[in-house]
Amino acid sequence: MTIFRGTFLDTPDNPFTGGDLRVDTDAGVLVTDGTIVARGTFADVRRAHPAEPVVDLTGGLVLPGFVDTHVHFPQIRAVGGLGLPLLEWLDKYALPEEARMADASYAAGVAAEFVRGLAAAGTTSALVFGAHYADAVDALFTASSEVGLRVTSGLVVSDRLLRPELHTTPSRAYDESLALARRWHGVGRNRYAVTPRFSLSCTDELLAVCHDVLEEVPGALFTSHLNENEAEIAAVSELFGGCDYVTTYDRHGLVDRRSVLAHNVHPTDVELKLLANAGASVAHCPTSNAALGSGLFPLTRHLQHGVRVALGSDVGAGTGFSLLKEGLQAYFAQQLQAEDGHPLSAAHLLHLVTTAGADALGLSSEVGDLSVGKRFDAQLLRPAEGSPLAVSIAHADDPEEALARTFTLGTPADVRAVWINGDLLHT
Ligand code: GUN
Ligand code: ZN
Repeated sequence: MTIFRGTFLDTPDNPFTGGDLRVDTDAGVLVTDGTIVARGTFADVRRAHPAEPVVDLTGGLVLPGFVDTHVHFPQIRAVGGLGLPLLEWLDKYALPEEARMADASYAAGVAAEFVRGLAAAGTTSALVFGAHYADAVDALFTASSEVGLRVTSGLVVSDRLLRPELHTTPSRAYDESLALARRWHGVGRNRYAVTPRFSLSCTDELLAVCHDVLEEVPGALFTSHLNENEAEIAAVSELFGGCDYVTTYDRHGLVDRRSVLAHNVHPTDVELKLLANAGASVAHCPTSNAALGSGLFPLTRHLQHGVRVALGSDVGAGTGFSLLKEGLQAYFAQQLQAEDGHPLSAAHLLHLVTTAGADALGLSSEVGDLSVGKRFDAQLLRPAEGSPLAVSIAHADDPEEALARTFTLGTPADVRAVWINGDLLHT
């Protein structure tokens, strides 16, 4: 058993439905075998457990580990390809790099960089867009297993309109996906996600096979892209005889509580209703939406319809692994919508990158906040002395202000330590 002592901030009560940020200064959190078994003032927890070792985290902020609901493993080396809209960016920056994943040793190098980048940013759980090559997906799961990250990922499948070397066939997609799921789903902290790239690059035959795989792997997730860019949406409509983007997935039984769909910048009300009724989640990727000029995310409309929303970094269209930066950019995107923007407090931002993410990924019973019964997935934020963030926090009136300043100025350099399941990572 270990007692962690410090200032703990988390969001067990949803701030979008009236909950407040939970702030416990000089608290004690007792962890046994990775699970939080007691929590209270440090003095009380210490008194009840006088012999247990204490890890002193005072002088910083302890947050739950972040949950990244949309990030592409093969794209870490493509970050920073600025100046193009989605379809042109895919052709110039993303897809050439995705094609390099055919080389398993190249993929293994990228996978190691990728899991290191996630963990160093304080991300402890992620829904990861895998690669088009099964050996590369093996490399990702191998790397995540070594670090202990909670990774849900799968083979990315497409059978049209990318570059030919990235195309598969429905029957090969079925065989390779199931083989990967059998190797990795439920092994350690890994889980499988059925992952058609987007409807634009998938025939109905391939999407039907995606549904077959999803049904054959209990507990698997479904993830893809949705309504990201106007030209993309027009092309999808053309390819699918005028039906809306959500329906291209839904008519194959791919939209339900297991589904996490990235972007949804340009939804219709009919689509939002369908997503809400299905219990599907949307991964909002704000730096990507800004970098590719995709648009401003209509958060208020999602909330009004009751659609579950969490945040994703969308590396490599997104600008890095930090969910602090995604939180700040989410805040900017709402501020920029004069009439319709939803004002976001620091508590909202923390919720979006922790509890909302855990909910989207079906991990709420295990992670997302630091309550008794949850796994100790946590991070210590402690900026270097004299840094702009340290100065700013020193002049904050209270911990919620300190958190707002952390979202504003914080970077992975301020993440001093990360624990998954109570184990300290060496990043
Ligand atoms: N739509 C299909 N593939 C991608 C991708 O790799 N990144 C983003 N942002 N959108 C996509
Ligand atoms: Zn994406």
